Amino acid sequence: MTIKVAIDGPAGAGKSTIAKHVARQMGIPYVDTGAIYRSLTWQSVNANIPLDDENALAQLAEGLDILFIPDGESQRVIVRGIDITQAIREPEISGKVSLVAKYPQVRRKLLAIQSMLSQSALGVVMDGRDIGTSILPDADVKIFLTAKLEVRARRRFEEMKRQGFDVELEKVLLELEARDQADKQRKASPLRMAEDAVALDTSLLTIEEASAMVAALCEVRLKNKGVQ
Ligand code: DC
Repeated sequence: MTIKVAIDGPAGAGKSTIAKHVARQMGIPYVDTGAIYRSLTWQSVNANIPLDDENALAQLAEGLDILFIPDGESQRVIVRGIDITQAIREPEISGKVSLVAKYPQVRRKLLAIQSMLSQSALGVVMDGRDIGTSILPDADVKIFLTAKLEVRARRRFEEMKRQGFDVELEKVLLELEARDQADKQRKASPLRMAEDAVALDTSLLTIEEASAMVAALCEVRLKNKGVQ
């Protein structure tokens, strides 16, 4: 029995941590689609491609050679043989990724990669901004995760400090706010909740509590599927 799980929401709502927990618990692969957009942005910056050149970005997206390698609790991101796991989390990339993600041609090319990565016989947990609305419209479980901006900024700040980045809380908050606005306002598959998604505000929950809720919902849907 397979199960497809779509987790969307703004930056810092806990999507990737919760998605990883749920994937581990269900024994199915996890695909971090934000890492795909970040990898393309990293490559564009390194290849000096102007971030307003949609055609050039789409061409780069078509040839994006990305690999996710499991690494304990998380996964490493390899592009053309280079490990860019840490590099794609740099504030420079976070600040530019929404510029790249807004182009319809780019999104179309990356949709092909995401569709391929979702084709596991076991099922998949994918997180991003348009998973429930565009990438997995037939997902068995759709979750829209939110949390107050201050809570999301604090979580992202703590996470970046743990990863060794030298950051300021205020700057992290402004960056998240700007990115959410850009992701919500773009014309091509913007950040929005699918009509059949379940909304979960994680402001007052620990990540463990939120993960347990999402995993419980997945178990229920899986059981119901078996009965149908
Ligand atoms: O999940 P993340 O914060 O790593 O995502 C980085 C950016 O990538 C996000 O601000 C917008 C873009 N993105 C997107 O447009 N669609 C997705 N499915 C995932 C990410």
